[in-house]
Amino acid sequence: MAKVTQDHLNVNGTKFTIDDSWLGESLLYTLRERLGLYGSKNACEQGECGSCSIMLDETLVCACLVLTGSAIGRDIKTIESLAPEGSLSVIQQAFVDAGAIQCGFCTPGLLVTIEDFLDDNAEPTELEIREAISGNLCRCTGYGRIVEAVRIASKASTDMEGAADDGN
Ligand code: FES
Ligand code: FES
Repeated sequence: MAKVTQDHLNVNGTKFTIDDSWLGESLLYTLRERLGLYGSKNACEQGECGSCSIMLDETLVCACLVLTGSAIGRDIKTIESLAPEGSLSVIQQAFVDAGAIQCGFCTPGLLVTIEDFLDDNAEPTELEIREAISGNLCRCTGYGRIVEAVRIASKASTDMEGAADDGN
């Protein structure tokens, strides 16, 4: 069977050489099964649930829909890059504070999605928040606490920016 000849994958700032993936192998499979990055979850493998959301060259994508071969040399960021080991990003802390995590299966994909969303829209309305997370399915929370977490993160980020501006 044909195999992909790979240079490297750039994942979270590290170059990984992968020389035996199949032509049809998904990036989600590679991240989880070859690189041991289990934060991106595998639920539907059809681009329907958002649990495998990652950033590819600054664009939010479902890793289950990306061929590993097409990601060679591109900039990949997964949930593992959101905060240094042992600490929480603003949005991760907001999820904790809002009680927005139940089983947690949807959480990594939501966090990557929301991080990207707040980068572009620091003070979103509720409608904008709900639209932004509409591609991420959660079977547990009913979404109310997730929306609340986004509000908390939005306020915390704008407060921090305000404090930084005052210090200048
Ligand atoms: S596992 Fe990729 S969208 Fe569901
Ligand atoms: S917390 Fe269980 S699927 Fe969202």
